[in-house]
Amino acid sequence: MQFEAAMEYQTRCPLLEVQGIPLLKPIVAHWERVERFRAEPGDLLIATYPKAGTTWTQEIVDLLLNHNDFDKSKRAPTHERMPFLEMTSPNPTLSGITKLETMDPPRVIKTHLPIQLVPTTFWEAGCKVIYMARNPKDNVVSYFHFDRMNLVQPVPGPWHQYLDKFMKGQLGWGSWYDHVKGYWRERKKKNILYLFFEDMKENPHQEVVRIAHFLGQNLSKTLIDEVVQKTTFVTMRDNPMANYSSVPNTIFDRRVSEFMRKGEVGDWQNHFSAEQNTIFEEHYRKIMEDEPIPFRFLI
Ligand code: A3P
Repeated sequence: MQFEAAMEYQTRCPLLEVQGIPLLKPIVAHWERVERFRAEPGDLLIATYPKAGTTWTQEIVDLLLNHNDFDKSKRAPTHERMPFLEMTSPNPTLSGITKLETMDPPRVIKTHLPIQLVPTTFWEAGCKVIYMARNPKDNVVSYFHFDRMNLVQPVPGPWHQYLDKFMKGQLGWGSWYDHVKGYWRERKKKNILYLFFEDMKENPHQEVVRIAHFLGQNLSKTLIDEVVQKTTFVTMRDNPMANYSSVPNTIFDRRVSEFMRKGEVGDWQNHFSAEQNTIFEEHYRKIMEDEPIPFRFLI
């Protein structure tokens, strides 16, 4: 993908809204392409709020679908193997949709869109969805560091301001709270496998088995173990096809932060002050009251 060629994405992009959801301006500018996208039966959607473990989930799925053939999963970088649905641009090299249109179904498709913005053809075609959620404290910390290094995303500003924006749903792709609730509510009606980053860290074998079953596979313990080994943080960090190192420094500035940064649970403790933690938890309890999703490692 020739990122350099994509003028629209060259500098920090402002956010504009689609149905009240803030998205990067170049995405909004070509929104009709997302709306018109035709999902086909068998396509698989991997949906996440940004920085919840998208790439990790993608790598596991790709390995499973390729019968654990590591060479095959190294055929191209993540964003080419499993294109980013809403990454639209008149420049075909940057457009996830353009890439998707050249691929034969069934395709594996990445999105950060909240469920109400997912094109309706996904539901009409009965597509399966894998949703990965991450506890909000680590999610916002990861997003903060990503926005520092991703020169396409709006300038994050200081941490306290960033945290405030996260709590108000003002970051790209909108409210984390609405995002996780939206997919949670629809998970049974819409064939959504709802996963948690923290479960993946704690018991990757068990979670990879769940993903394999969801994909209709019944693999041996040895094969599952191999998939787990190939998708550890360290293995993915050192795999140029899974660590986004093909994206040039003019887009992902690695001097600021790595894409594969820490991959831990609990890094929020190095960022939240005691006061921020109290305010955050009170706000969390109120806003999540109507949908008690079992997030762990909150306190
Ligand atoms: P950190 O910034 O906390 O390190 P996404 O793929 O949705 O952009 O999410 C990126 C986050 O997932 C980063 O979190 C990254 O390090 C983490 N991650 C990616 N692969 C991982 C893996 N195999 N194990 C643990 N964390 C992983």
